[in-house]
Amino acid sequence: MQKRLFLTGTALAALTLVAPHAMAQSDTFKIGLILPMTGQQATTGRQIEAAAKLYMAQNGDMIAGKKVQLIVKDDTSIPDVTKRIAQELVVNEKVNVLAGMGITPSALATAAIATQSKTPLVVMAAATSSITEASPYVVRTSFTLPQASVALADWAPKNGIKKVVTLVSDYGPGIDAEKFFKERLAFNGGQVTESLRVPLRNPDFAPFLQKVRDLKPDALFVFVPSGAGAAVMKQFLERGMDKAGIKLIGTGDITDDDQLNDMGDGALGVVTSHHYSAAHPSAVNKKFVEAFKKANNNLRPNFMAVGGYDGMRVIYEAIKATKGQGGGDALLAAMKGQIFESPRGPMYIDAQTRDVVQNIYLRKVERKDGQLYNIEFDVIKDVKDPGKAR
Ligand code: DHB
Repeated sequence: MQKRLFLTGTALAALTLVAPHAMAQSDTFKIGLILPMTGQQATTGRQIEAAAKLYMAQNGDMIAGKKVQLIVKDDTSIPDVTKRIAQELVVNEKVNVLAGMGITPSALATAAIATQSKTPLVVMAAATSSITEASPYVVRTSFTLPQASVALADWAPKNGIKKVVTLVSDYGPGIDAEKFFKERLAFNGGQVTESLRVPLRNPDFAPFLQKVRDLKPDALFVFVPSGAGAAVMKQFLERGMDKAGIKLIGTGDITDDDQLNDMGDGALGVVTSHHYSAAHPSAVNKKFVEAFKKANNNLRPNFMAVGGYDGMRVIYEAIKATKGQGGGDALLAAMKGQIFESPRGPMYIDAQTRDVVQNIYLRKVERKDGQLYNIEFDVIKDVKDPGKAR
C-alpha cells in the first residue's frame, strides 16, 4: 500500500513537473497580450487586438514549428491589474512574451516582472521616454512623446507661432510632451507662456480652456492620450477659440484616426506631429489599411493599431531567428536591431536602447475622399527618442 502510494506520488510529481511544461514548450509559443479592453482606454485595446489578429491571419500561426497562441487579457488600464495579470501569465501560462501596455503606468508596473522572469515585454502603445529604461527586457514599437513633440516645436516658430500655452494629461507622456516641446520652442526663439495639466481620469477641459482663452497665445499645444482628443476638440471649438485666433496644435494623439472622422469640419487645418497616419501614402500602408478595415467592419486603424501590428512582426521574426527554440534572452537579442518597412514608413529597433527609431511627420487635417485625414506635408527622418540623450 505504502509502496503503491509512493509510486503514484512520484509518477504524479513527474507528470506535473515535466510533462505539461515540456509539452507547452515544444508545441506552443504563447504571447500574453495585456490591453485595456474596457474603460477609458478601451479604443486602444480594440485597435491593438484587431491589429495583432490581422497580423496572425496574414502570416499564419505556425512559425518555426511552433503554434503561436495569443492570450488577450483586459487590464482595464489599472496598473495593479496589469501587474497581477502579467504575473499570472508568466507563472501559470508560461508565456514566452508579454505584450500590449495601453498606458505608461501599466508598462512601468509590469517592467519588474519582465526583468525577474527574463521575459521580453513588447510595449505597443505606452510612450513615455523612460519606459525602455525600466527593464532591459522592454522593446518598444509605439513611439515616444519627445520624438513627436520636438518636431512640432521646430515647425511652430517658422509658421508664426511664437507664444504657446501647453495643456497635457498629468502623467508620464504628458509631462514628457510638455518638457520637450517647451525646451525646444525656447531654443527656437519661441516661448511657452503657461503650462496646464489636466487629470488623466475623467478630465474636465472646460476651466482650462477658459484660462487659455484669456491668455490668448498664438497656439495651444495639447497632449491627451488616445481616445480623449475628440472631447478637447469639441470644447475648443465650442468656446470659439479658433475664431479668437488661437491655433490648436499637438502630437497626433489629438487627431487620432480612431476618432478624427467624427470630429467635424472644425478639425480642418489642425497641424500635428506623429509617426503614423492612416493616410500615409505608401503601398504597404494602403494594403494594411484596406485589410484592417475589411476585417473590422470598416474601422480605420490608428497609431495604436500600427504599434500592435509591428509589435507582432517583431515577435514573429524573433521566433524565426531563434528557430522556435529561444528562451527570453535569445528572443530579446533577436528583437534588437530589427529593421523593416512598417505601414508608418521605415523603422528599426535600436539595438542599444531597444526603442523605436522612425520618421516623424508633420500633418494637417484635410478632407480627402469625403473623409477627414491627417495629411502628411513634411517628414523628419529616422528620429531617435530625444529623451535618451540626457
Ligand atoms: C500613452 C497613452 C496613449 O493613449 C497615448 O496616445 C500616448 C501615450 C501612455 O500612457 O504612455
